[in-house]
Parts: sequence; structure tokens; C-alpha cells
Amino acid sequence: MDGVIRITERPRPPRPEELNLRFSEKAVKELEALLTHYPDKKSALLPALWIAQREYGGHLTADAIAEVAYRLQRSYAEVEGVATFYTMYNKVPVGKYMLEVCTNLTCMLCGGYRILEHLQQRLGIQLGETTPDGMFTLAEVECLNNCGDAPVMQVGDVYYRRLTPEKVDALLEELRKGDEHTVVKLADAEVQMHLAEWERPENQ
Ligand code: FES
Repeated sequence: MDGVIRITERPRPPRPEELNLRFSEKAVKELEALLTHYPDKKSALLPALWIAQREYGGHLTADAIAEVAYRLQRSYAEVEGVATFYTMYNKVPVGKYMLEVCTNLTCMLCGGYRILEHLQQRLGIQLGETTPDGMFTLAEVECLNNCGDAPVMQVGDVYYRRLTPEKVDALLEELRKGDEHTVVKLADAEVQMHLAEWERPENQ
């Protein structure tokens, strides 16, 4: 698995009679609140996709895309086009945690590839793959805008900085035991951030 959807593998959109709406009551309410913040439904597409990523367990299935299209009254193709444009939306199943290692210039010079290779060796997976226990997916990313603390890795909604192989080992242990910074929690944090954005006085 390399995170790329090839044309021949593109999931078939569900037919209207196959539409299986899965948004929770909470998700429906959040979407309703978001829609009051935008001039039209189309403009709420990005936060709606975050809601879908959370509600569907961490990645956007064809059903998730169809549900967003239905709720925003857009075409499936339009929603799929947006979802596949942005890398933060997962189009294939991923692990509980996404380990996104920066290998851009500063991180590369400060040992980013050493961290990446260490993770590959420790987890027994290559880039774009998920561990058999479904815990970790490994990805390489461009600059995370924290160059002063290189090498950096993003896990869900947090950055881990000035990494060493020893720190990575301790972090893997901590993540295995915990339930924070997961792919689903990142999606929820994004939803809450979009909702809170509009609570600011300048947006009232
Ligand atoms: S190059 Fe890695 S955070 Fe900028």
C-alpha cells in the first residue's frame, strides 16, 4: 500500500439506493453549526470531510464521500476531487496512529532519514505501510514548519521534536499504551478547531 489510489482501484461510489448514512447525532449537529458559518454548503466541504474522517474511523471510504456529497448537496465527483487533492484526508485505511516523519532539508541534515530508517526497522514496515496490528502507519512529509527543532515528526495533533532513536523507542511505547494523538482524534481536533474559529470575537 503506498497511499495512492490508482484509476483501476478507484472505489466505486455507492448508488443512491445503497447510500448508508453513518454520521452520528453529534456529527449532524456539528455539520449544521458549521453550515451557519459559511455562505453556502460547498464552502463547508473541508470541515465536513474532517467530520467524515472521524465518523468513518480514520479514512474516507466511498460511503463517507457519498455521505458528505449527500449532506452538502454536491456531486460525488466534486467531493471526491477535493478529498483526493488534500493529503490530510486518508483515502485508504490507516493505522490508529499516523507517524509522519519530516525529511525536508533541515530535518534531513539533522537526522530525519535516520529517524525514518529506525522506525522502519523497529516497526518492520516501509513507507506508506501499516503494522499488522493496525497500530502505526508510516509516512514521509514535507517541512512541518518546526525546523528549529529538527528532526520532527507529527503524530496526530502533536509534533515530537529533536528526535533521537531512543526518544522514538520511548514514544512508540507510550503510544502503544495510550489513546491520545490518534488519527481519529486529529480529525476531531480539526472539527472542533473549525467550530471554535467562529466563536472568536472578530467573527461575530
Ligand atoms: S525541515 Fe523539518 S520541520 Fe522544517
